[in-house]
Amino acid sequence: MRMYFLLWLLILGFVVSNCELSDKKVSPDSGNSQIEDAQTIEESEVVEVNEPASWITDSTKDIKYLHITWTKEPATSLTFQWQSSYINIEKYKPVVWIVKAKDVKIEANKISMPYAKQFVFTGNGFLYTTEDINDNKEKRAQYTVEVFNLEEDTEYYYRAGTFDDFDFEKREFVNPNLSDAYRIKTGLKSGNKKPFKVFAGGDSQSGINMIKNNIEYIKNIKVDFWLFYGDLVEVGTQPEWDAYFDAMQPLFVNKVFMPVQGNHETISELFYYQFALPVMPGLPEEFKEHHWSFDYGIAHFVGLNSLTDATVKSANTFLEDDLKRARENQNIKWIVVMFHHPAYSACSTHGSTQRVIDNWVPIFEKYRVDLVLSGHDHNYERTYPIKNNQKVSQGEGVQYVVCSPFMSPKWYSAGSDWWTYKSRDGSDGAYGIIEIDNSSLTFTAYTNDGVDVIDTFTLKKD
Ligand SMILES: [Fe+2]
Ligand SMILES: [Fe+2]
Repeated sequence: MRMYFLLWLLILGFVVSNCELSDKKVSPDSGNSQIEDAQTIEESEVVEVNEPASWITDSTKDIKYLHITWTKEPATSLTFQWQSSYINIEKYKPVVWIVKAKDVKIEANKISMPYAKQFVFTGNGFLYTTEDINDNKEKRAQYTVEVFNLEEDTEYYYRAGTFDDFDFEKREFVNPNLSDAYRIKTGLKSGNKKPFKVFAGGDSQSGINMIKNNIEYIKNIKVDFWLFYGDLVEVGTQPEWDAYFDAMQPLFVNKVFMPVQGNHETISELFYYQFALPVMPGLPEEFKEHHWSFDYGIAHFVGLNSLTDATVKSANTFLEDDLKRARENQNIKWIVVMFHHPAYSACSTHGSTQRVIDNWVPIFEKYRVDLVLSGHDHNYERTYPIKNNQKVSQGEGVQYVVCSPFMSPKWYSAGSDWWTYKSRDGSDGAYGIIEIDNSSLTFTAYTNDGVDVIDTFTLKKD
């Protein structure tokens, strides 16, 4: 039996394609960019691993604030980030060891992953200095590993961290300091018609305790990935980010989470240091990662930074090119855009955002964006479809939704204006689930406990 298993692992080793290493993160305070060319890992035999007594052999090399985004294609890549108390970036080689779930043995909660060189991807770390309202400064190391060449729509297990070497004779790691093993699923290739579900929410802000108290429920919300339209935290100092990442950890280790910046991420650098996001063509250097997009199945998703006149204007060229390409792409049926400050909002706390109406709304209308999601006003509001600043019939204009707050005690009352189809105060919170298939896009807004449906609507296309 054991021989068959080893033989089978050996065969598996030959069919796994070469993995590439890429390392493109620039140290913010090193002053010199360190861009390494992609290298190819030589394939090696696939072996069963003699598991260590502990996956952490040096307590200073702990793994904290682990989370996953996409910086490249959702179907074939994943980007992992974490911090460690160990901040000597020259001596810490961040790795992600990742294996298809079907090749992993799970017995009585023990997850045994086979090892081969081609299952391990390396990245690098950069140092940054924290800031907070008391101006406390502390050196932090952020470690990032981009994993490529994964199979579409496939379950994997991974461990993240570092190790010195792998001893093939003993079949064991040398000085491993690796996380627990977690499950993660890759996305759909552009044009794949398989139905999928997306979480949409914003404005958790001061709700870290609500997140902690509800994390079992949160992590079990049945979606393929998460979109979050800003105000993750209340102020965005490093201690608050640490508490936020700790609270969200049980979700973050298993789901891709794609955020945009809100006005409460007051120290922009800390947001962008800690979330690796796609770097898109056509953006000025200072706004790279502020605006991004990706295809997932038959949908195109766009995230934008709506914070100021400067951030909004910086997106115009990118947005025009990106939406034009998406609309001309036969693979893409649905376009969903998210950003923090709503174009149209009847809430008296903040209301509509003129810079968004002036700059982006004409581009949304030109390329027939299907759904635009925002937060900032902590309530729920669905507009009529809008075109040329007027109500129009479904299919003729852009559908805007404010759906907030997710797990925050801070909420605002609802308003109503000419564009308002439905609104409700934010006292029970609100988050959305987008369900996409080849002929329909359904958006359903739930109260934070997931019990009540606030609103649901379906957009249809042949
Ligand atoms: Fe907010
Ligand atoms: Fe806000």
